[in-house]
Amino acid sequence: MMDKDIATLRIESLGTRGDGLAPWRGATAYVDGALPGERVETRITGRRGDGFAAAADKIVEPSPERRQPPCPQAASCGGCVLQHANDDLYRRWKRSLLTDALRRRGLGDTAVEDLAVAPTASRRRTRLGVKQKGAETIVGFRARRSHRLVPIDGCRVLTPALMRAIERLRPLLGHLGARELELTESATGIDVVVHGGALPDLSGLQQITEAAHDGDLARVVWRDRGGLTPILSRRDPCLMFGGTEVVLPPGAFVQPTAWGEERLAEHVAACVAGAGHIADLYAGLGTFGLRLAAIARVTAVESVAAMADAMKQAANRSGQAGRLTVERRDLARAPLSAAELEPFDAVVFDPPRQGAREQAQQLAVSPVPCVVAVSCHPGSFSRDARILVDGGYRLDTIWPVDQFLWSHHLELVAVFRRG
Ligand SMILES: C[S@@+](CC[C@H](N)C(=O)[O-])C[C@H]1O[C@@H](n2cnc3c(N)ncnc32)[C@H](O)[C@@H]1O
Repeated sequence: MMDKDIATLRIESLGTRGDGLAPWRGATAYVDGALPGERVETRITGRRGDGFAAAADKIVEPSPERRQPPCPQAASCGGCVLQHANDDLYRRWKRSLLTDALRRRGLGDTAVEDLAVAPTASRRRTRLGVKQKGAETIVGFRARRSHRLVPIDGCRVLTPALMRAIERLRPLLGHLGARELELTESATGIDVVVHGGALPDLSGLQQITEAAHDGDLARVVWRDRGGLTPILSRRDPCLMFGGTEVVLPPGAFVQPTAWGEERLAEHVAACVAGAGHIADLYAGLGTFGLRLAAIARVTAVESVAAMADAMKQAANRSGQAGRLTVERRDLARAPLSAAELEPFDAVVFDPPRQGAREQAQQLAVSPVPCVVAVSCHPGSFSRDARILVDGGYRLDTIWPVDQFLWSHHLELVAVFRRG
């Protein structure tokens, strides 16, 4: 490091990744851990996009909105980026991720409701790195912009049940050569997918069985190049969507918190109230579709076979097969056309992070009176919203739902109407 790479900077704003932004040498310095208004001694650590990455060596003038992070690992762990901001600043920043994205697409005058923020210790689904370091096994999130693992100890976002399961599994994982650990807390115990490493031998199986009893594990599955190998199954890992029980396929997508799932589902149901025939696109396991089948006829579309099958079986078992039809289809390659969309009174779509450009283009030329978007990415959502608005929809209201506490991720529900 050279002297010229050290600078005292005044932070002007927060970036989309939670860094403090300051002008430096005609470009932007992204200062990890700094807050707006602060004067900070920084060390420039490298290039970042068309600007510079920087570390905050000393906060010379701290912001009144700075606080002591609740987690001991907050300064380095990449799971959270803004624990050092007080609640007010955190909420303003999180909401601005959405309002700024909307403004960039000319939708800045949209009504955005208050941000709902998940409680601490509520995240029920996670994927963590595993590494053996001497006698110690580290299980944790990656450090910010690094492959280094930060131990999960003291984590304030995962549920207590996940933390107990991790603690119980940790001593076994390094010996078994595991590289990653995927955990989902279901209503019937924890679903575990271990990535990498050799399949456990007899003594490994014995240890996993003991851990499963202590840590309330419902199922353990090994994933390697050869695919999925079931190791242990004490119970089917299940979730209830409305009154319907669904068995989770290994590593299935579920909303990251039960709290957030309820918020999203409530908004979706309120938006489509009165609709007799609803399409649930990017339906997953039927988080929305199975709930909506209680009030309407539903066509659910999902591309992953295991997800679509689990949803179909849940509908069959619960006697809802007549109300919920499941179609397996890739909506990026073959979106529902405007003609196919015509019979629906309402369409719900909840795509992955990249959004649903192709499907939005078909919706934009369809006559569907009510379209509800659920999104985990304000940027791709705003792009798709622009397509719908250009097609004549009115973007009525957006509800931001923060399920990834202290991270830069944000979910939302938005309702579009015609006429
Ligand atoms: C964000 S998840 C939402 C799932 C569900 N709505 C929920 O709330 O649990 C997105 C879902 O879209 C599915 N998916 C991804 N790409 C797809 C595509 N091209 N066509 C159809 N479904 C897709 C994924 O498998 C996943 O289940």
